[in-house]
Amino acid sequence: MEIRVATVDDWERSKDIRLRALAEAPNAFCSSLDRELAFDDQAWRDRLEQARTFLALSGGATVGTAAGTADPHENGGRELVAMWVDPAERRSGVARALIDAVVEWARAQNAPAVALWVAEDNASALRLYEKCGFALTGEREVMRPGVDQVRMRRPLTQAAGVVR
Ligand SMILES: CC(C)(COP(=O)(O)OP(=O)(O)OC[C@H]1O[C@@H](n2cnc3c(N)ncnc32)[C@H](O)[C@@H]1OP(=O)(O)O)[C@@H](O)C(=O)NCCC(=O)NCCS
Repeated sequence: MEIRVATVDDWERSKDIRLRALAEAPNAFCSSLDRELAFDDQAWRDRLEQARTFLALSGGATVGTAAGTADPHENGGRELVAMWVDPAERRSGVARALIDAVVEWARAQNAPAVALWVAEDNASALRLYEKCGFALTGEREVMRPGVDQVRMRRPLTQAAGVVR
């Protein structure tokens, strides 16, 4: 399995896995399959310019994705978004590797932290993020009727040139 940054030339691959994610896990995201099926080709290209998107590849197939963006809630911070792993590849460390890639990208930009929002009923994602060093901040907001999303944050400490 290999993690790599998606370039604009990867827009069809990126579109394909995003639509698979929205179809397979409609409750995990603040968007919907219907909404994104309506995007034109340029919108998919623009998306790759606006966020740092990572793809997990295995044997030529795209098996996972996640992206990093500027965090609107924290000055200089980065936000981890759009995390999804193909069900056939789950529990083999793909999400952990994608998180590592986003964190490495954030560190390279001297970001103070990586944060994310996750549905409060998404037990597997909550467990994943906790295992990867994210902690609940106590912030929550309505995601959809009856379900809140909660914010988790992982501070990135930086010491003596070695960023850990
Ligand atoms: C959540 C998700 C991304 C996890 O992907 P994954 O590749 O299976 O995760 P990993 O294999 O890297 O798991 C790393 C650790 O997270 C925890 N974890 C992951 N999935 C878990 C689950 N279903 N139950 C309990 N713990 C889980 C475990 O501690 C795991 O380590 P272990 O397998 O050694 O015990 C995947 O289930 C998914 O795509 N779900 C649907 C979309 C989604 O919810 N996205 C998140 C939106 S915020």
